[in-house]
Parts: sequence; structure tokens; C-alpha cells
Amino acid sequence: MAEPSTTLGDTGDWAPVDFERHGRELLASLREHFEHVRDVPVARPYDPAGLMARLDTAAPERGEDFSRILADTWDQVVPDLVQWNHPAFHGYFSTCASFPGVLAETMTAALNVNAMLWKTSPSASALELVVLRWLADMAGYPADADAVLVGGASLATLYALGAARDAAYPHDVREHGLAGPDAAVPRIYTSDQAHSSVDKAAITLGVGLRNVVRIPADSGYRMRPDLLEAAIAEDVAAGRRPVAVVATVGTTSVAAADPLGPIADICRRHGVWLHVDAAYGGLFALSTALRPALEDVSVGDSLVVNPQKTLFVPLDATSLHCRRRGALANTYRLVPEYLTSAHPGGAADFMDLSPQLGRGFRALKLWWVIRAFGLDGLRSRLDHAVALAGELRGLAAAHPDWHCPVPSDYPLVCLRYQPSDGPRTDTPEGRAALDALNARIVAELNDAGEAFVSHSVIRDGYVIRISLANIHTTADDITRLWAALNRVAEKTR
Ligand SMILES: Cc1ncc(COP(=O)(O)O)c(C=O)c1O
Repeated sequence: MAEPSTTLGDTGDWAPVDFERHGRELLASLREHFEHVRDVPVARPYDPAGLMARLDTAAPERGEDFSRILADTWDQVVPDLVQWNHPAFHGYFSTCASFPGVLAETMTAALNVNAMLWKTSPSASALELVVLRWLADMAGYPADADAVLVGGASLATLYALGAARDAAYPHDVREHGLAGPDAAVPRIYTSDQAHSSVDKAAITLGVGLRNVVRIPADSGYRMRPDLLEAAIAEDVAAGRRPVAVVATVGTTSVAAADPLGPIADICRRHGVWLHVDAAYGGLFALSTALRPALEDVSVGDSLVVNPQKTLFVPLDATSLHCRRRGALANTYRLVPEYLTSAHPGGAADFMDLSPQLGRGFRALKLWWVIRAFGLDGLRSRLDHAVALAGELRGLAAAHPDWHCPVPSDYPLVCLRYQPSDGPRTDTPEGRAALDALNARIVAELNDAGEAFVSHSVIRDGYVIRISLANIHTTADDITRLWAALNRVAEKTR
């Protein structure tokens, strides 16, 4: 095997000159990738055994040349990735890493800052305060709320519900756990459309899945406040303890938004914490097209928004905001001797606001992306996605075989292929056949590699979900996607 051509110098690491040389190699290969990204399959059928047979080698005894490692990455790893950063990736809630964000990740890794305490990272902590205030302003949440960057919306909801649980009990839950002197059964309310992260939080917090009360949604997939009120009243009468309501702005299946005003009124009357999961919908408050129609998230005691979903910032970047000042620290602040620090006013120790101690410098990528595009640039990019979704809905509406079973303002388009000579929908067997047809369309489309979509099942059956969030997606991409959907659908029916 050839000796690595990289100079290792005295330190054992690459010499800085080789770091730059390899960095240029990497960037050149990424440039090539993105210049021809529309020729790259978004995904291909996967074969776990074949993939493992190719990748599962013994760890090399001796260091290898970077050019070889890079070439192997492109040849053996990248083709079996699903290309989430592809303009034709529309699965789940698609995420998008814009180029300034990608470079910020490189700088973050190079400096390798730990933003746990102000004193371990003064300007990382200061920038975190700044971008959190920017994000709060964008979403319409009080900018002076406590806030922290965390590793995903599921964790943000877990952390918020931890604080809500502690606030709901008069005894010190930190000290005694839930089995303390006031052992009333904790209850969390959320709609039947809410994300599974609420259930996971209930599992983790010891609340238990059976104490997550799923409130039915109305015909528009929005939580019904009257049923929420009734559920809370019933629990109070039975001696159970309402801990929190989790309302969603931008539900996972169809991007519906719960009616926050009436829900907040109920929470206020019953003294229950309202957590707003606006992971998907919250930052669309920036969009001129959507803002007027959006729910006011400022009524939440806590709020999560996910720039990694909507603001072209690479994974992971999520912000948790909490207007009950001190509540997060009340639950999560714990300072052993080796982490004590004395600092002047205005400083914040982010380790106090979540269970995480060591934490990276997530603020830099937000700072770079927001500065690189500006609020106006972000606004127009979000408006562009909303307009592309409108085009796709328009194409479907004009076609006799395609239906949009749920309206949405967001750039999440739910479609169903329902040819007039296809399966009937007035029998369970016909419904199942229609669902199966749409599932085959998703599988075939994704296997073909031209685009990637995902699915959900709503009240009247299976829907193809198309999320438009990539900064590089154009009107031509929508035309190509529409052609691919039709080609696959006609072949599959
Ligand atoms: C409404 C909603 N909340 C929370 C989450 C969880 O987000 P994350 O993957 O950042 O944990 C999702 C994921 O798509 C979501 O759709």
C-alpha cells in the first residue's frame, strides 16, 4: 500500500499546509458534485448486505492517503446515501444545507469550541444569544425569553416538557422524582396529529405513554379546543395533574396548525403550560406569503422552531425558547465544583438550560446563513418555496387523476393518485387498493432516483408527501417532478 503523501509533522496530525491542500481537494469534489447534482440519483434501491460487505473492512493498521479516503467516500459511500441536499429531495420535512452553512460547519469543526459555559466560549455564547434573539424575532416570540440551541425539535420538546413537569408539581420533582409527596398522575395533552416526539418525551420523563392524551383534530386536522377543555376538566376532577398541552404549528402529516388562541385561553384558565411545537411552521412567519395567515406562537410558555428544516442551516440546529424566565434553569441547572465560574452580568451559561453539558458552536452556522442571505433574502427564498408548492398544487388540481386531499398554505404538498378507472374508494377493499397503488408510486419513484418523496396516512387514506425546502429547487425541478410522478403513476396503475 502506498505511503500517505501527507506530511504528519511533529504533532501526529496533518501539517496545516496539507490541511489546506486536502480541503481544496474536498471543496473541488463538492463543487463538481453540486454543479452536476441533477445527474446524481437522489436515492437508489438499497441492499444492506451488499453495502455492508463493501464497507465492513478491518480498521486499517496504518494511516491512509486522504485522496484515497476521499475517492472511496465518493465511490463507496455517497452513492448509497439518500441525497438530502439535492434539489429533487422532497421527503419527510426536507432539510437543506446552504453553502454558507456548510462552510460554517467546517469552521466550527476546525475551532472545535465547547459552548457549555460563558467562560469556555465567550463569543460563541454571545453569538448564541444573538441568533436566538434573531430567531425569536423571526417567529414572533418574545426576544427576551430564555432560549437555547439544541440538537433537534424532539429534544427541545423533551426539555420543555421536563420544565413543564417540574412547574406542575408543588413538591420538588428534582429532589423527589414524580413519586414524591404529591404523586398525582401527570397528563400531557396533544392532538392526534402531533409528532411522536411528544410520546418519546413522555416515555423519557416517566410520564408514560398512557398519560399522553391525544385530543381529536377537526376536519382541518387542527386540535379541537372544546375536546381539550373537556379532557383537562375530566382529569382535574379525577385528581390527575395536567402538566402541559403541546400544540403544533405545521403538523408532520399535512402541515396543519392548531388554533393557538383558544388553546392558550384554556391553558391559562387551568394553569397548564403550553408548549408550541412550531418545528416546521414557526419560521414561515418570515415569509410574506404566509405570515398574515399564521398562528401567533407568542402565546406559548415555550416554543420550538427548527432552522434545520426551514432556514437552510445544516443539521442540527433547533432553538427552544421559554418565556417563563428561569423555568428551564430551575430544572436543568446543576453546577458541580469543576464547572463553577464567576462572570460579569450579561453572561449566560448555556449548560444551565438543558441537560446537555458539552455542546458545539451551533450559533456560527446560523449567524453565517442569516448574514449571508439577510432577512429579505430568507423571506424571498421561503416565498419561492411557497410559490413552487402552489404551482405543484395547481398542476394536480388541473389533472383529473390527481387530488390534493388537504389544503395547506405551507410548501408541503399532499397528493393522491386516483385515476377514474382505478380502484373505487367506497369500499374498504377499494381504499386499500388505492393506498397500495400510491405506496407503489412512492417506492417506484424513489427507486428510480429522479426525485425522493415520502408518505403519510391521513383520515381518508395514504397520501404522497412532497416537501419543498431545498434552496436550489427551481420551477424546472417542479416540472420534472410532475413529469416523473405521472410517468411512474401511469406505469404503476
Ligand atoms: C411537527 C414536528 N415536530 C417535531 C419533529 C422532530 O424534529 P427533529 O427531527 O428535529 O427532532 C418533527 C420532525 O419532522 C416534526 O414534524
